[in-house]
Amino acid sequence: MNPLKLAVIVGSNRRDSLNRKLAEALVRLGGNRVAAHFVRIDDLAMYSIDIDSDQDRPEAVRRFNREVSEADAVLVVTPEFNRSIPAVLKNAIDWGSRAAPRGGVWRGKVAAITGTSPGAIGTAVGQQHLRQILGVLGSLVMGGEAYISFKPGLIDEDGTITDESTRDFLQAYMDDFLAVAEKLRAPAPAARAA
Ligand code: FNR
Repeated sequence: MNPLKLAVIVGSNRRDSLNRKLAEALVRLGGNRVAAHFVRIDDLAMYSIDIDSDQDRPEAVRRFNREVSEADAVLVVTPEFNRSIPAVLKNAIDWGSRAAPRGGVWRGKVAAITGTSPGAIGTAVGQQHLRQILGVLGSLVMGGEAYISFKPGLIDEDGTITDESTRDFLQAYMDDFLAVAEKLRAPAPAARAA
């Protein structure tokens, strides 16, 4: 079977983002079942209806919408900021929501959400907000919860999760997500008869 086209969105624009490291480790856990593409969000202009028209919509926004639309599924790995999601992620979601009527690029999109922070509850509150936003937009957000409290050394230089119980937990999380996403993905167009 063709690998699943997975759009990975990291909700941080920080150079040494912990969430980017986690996202890379998760992609690794997906192995050859996924063809992952990290979708940029840090170059999107702040949403304004003034530039949201066919003439004025920035090229980066068009690219973002296209990359999410073309994916079979989306994995969002995000920090929590002030018990919600970072503005850079909300901005990207808002742009995507305007791409077409009723939910834009998010509608019907299978999504998994997770995230990490050094705090004790590892982005739990931010993820609840994200689940609500994507749900309202019609995404099929995976059930289950994965809140990762980041400790130094949790992910090594190669992107391997060093703590065995965390690794096993996240492997199961990715396995569940990929199984659902594979089941729901649009069938490949049938090969034409010669
Ligand atoms: C934070 N951080 C944070 N952490 C947390 O667990 N809950 C929170 O509500 C917040 N709030 C918050 C607000 C702002 C403005 C900043 C800058 C930071 C800490 C945050 O989890 C930490 O900086 C992470 O390292 C951010 O993730 P990335 O950028 O490393 O992926």
